[in-house]
Amino acid sequence: MTAQSQPIAYFNGQLLPLDRISISPLDRGFIFGDGVYEVIPVYGGAPLRAREHFERLQRSMDEIALQNPHSVDEWIALMEQLLAHHPGNQSVYIQVTRGAPTKRDHVIPKGLQPTVFMMCYPLASPSREAIDNGVACITARDFRWEKCHIKSTSLLGNVLARQMSADQGAVETIMLRDGMLTEASASNVFVVKDGVVAAPPRDHLILLGITYDLLVKLAAEGSVRLEIRPISEAELRAADEVWLSSSTKEVLAVTTLDRKPVGSGKPGPVFRRMHALFQEHKSRLAPRRAVPA
Ligand code: PDD
Repeated sequence: MTAQSQPIAYFNGQLLPLDRISISPLDRGFIFGDGVYEVIPVYGGAPLRAREHFERLQRSMDEIALQNPHSVDEWIALMEQLLAHHPGNQSVYIQVTRGAPTKRDHVIPKGLQPTVFMMCYPLASPSREAIDNGVACITARDFRWEKCHIKSTSLLGNVLARQMSADQGAVETIMLRDGMLTEASASNVFVVKDGVVAAPPRDHLILLGITYDLLVKLAAEGSVRLEIRPISEAELRAADEVWLSSSTKEVLAVTTLDRKPVGSGKPGPVFRRMHALFQEHKSRLAPRRAVPA
């Protein structure tokens, strides 16, 4: 933080106080939502799965034919520079847009310099109460586009979906497309029946979460049975347990769905096991060196 308490952020090669950064109104991120992003959780200065996040950023950029200005190692070094100003638990937000041309045109101009922006803000991990009692969710039709695997800054569909749950005092909107579970507005969704976890397929209808992948790995290591397969609305509604996962929510039990209890109405045993495996994994993260003055 600076003397004025403005957080330091990264913008096109420079570390600057956040309020000193200005972006062109012609930037295609602003005009078209023509950009991609990542959110990386950092615990006590140690990023969780940074490499995987930057590899997904690369995949998102490949999908929209945007040249990546940095290698994964360069990205990690830039993030470390920023984190030196932000100790403790943080969310790192990274956004790359197509850049700022001289006129508005849907057609992608050649030779544009991408706009690179990175900032940090304190990581809001789930409260003890949310972990112990679970959270409320609603369901809605998935009215988004068919390229949900791209972590695009064009988030209007997700924003409108999330607002539906916010308006009802719920934590997430779980979406169904053609009678099948996809994901939630900013999280992945898992269901549990008779002790077996199921997760929707890794296809273009969901964002393949870094936390999703981590839970799949931890389940395998911890001998929790987990299947990746299409999940119907009926299965979602009859599940013993439903979970959300994301870089900020970690893994969280859903205990009411559309105001009806999920299973027993309490976070279930498979959730508790998975939550413990996740916390154990986090505790093994390398503690980071002291922050420079
Ligand atoms: N959202 N699905 C969607 C639509 C998401 O926006 C997110 C994450 C996830 C989970 O992905 P991960 O485990 O890699 O965080 C799934 C981030 C946190 C956000 O937009 O703030």
